[in-house]
Amino acid sequence: MLYSEQVMDHFANPRNVGELENADGIGEVGNAKCGDIMKMYLKIDNNVITDAKFKTFGCGAAIATSSMATDMVKGKPVSEALKLTNKTVVEALGGLPAQKLHCSVLAEQAIRSALSDYYSRQGIDPLPIVGEIGECASCS
Ligand code: FES
Repeated sequence: MLYSEQVMDHFANPRNVGELENADGIGEVGNAKCGDIMKMYLKIDNNVITDAKFKTFGCGAAIATSSMATDMVKGKPVSEALKLTNKTVVEALGGLPAQKLHCSVLAEQAIRSALSDYYSRQGIDPLPIVGEIGECASCS
């Protein structure tokens, strides 16, 4: 079996699909390798992520990782969400085939992009906090 049960479950029944009206941070990233796109919406109150939704135009692994990543940041402080890496998402999914690991980077980057937007909206420079988007934090 190429994919774990968790990956198949999150692909077949993705959690948190959709958009959030009045989101406090919206992120969008694309994967240069395949052209897939992921959009992430975060609702944040008192520095806690109270809701997260996503829209992914991409492969099954990208959908499963967006589903898991949104689940993992919901209810967490922003500081915790900033520590989320594609590696922790992949671990929570019970692994991904090596050739699909790049798909999980999209989920990590989409969350960081949404957090970057969250800081920008408050007039805070996100770069020192969130870092460059487009680089995999766990790859560099
Ligand atoms: Fe594009 Fe998976 S092949 S994100």
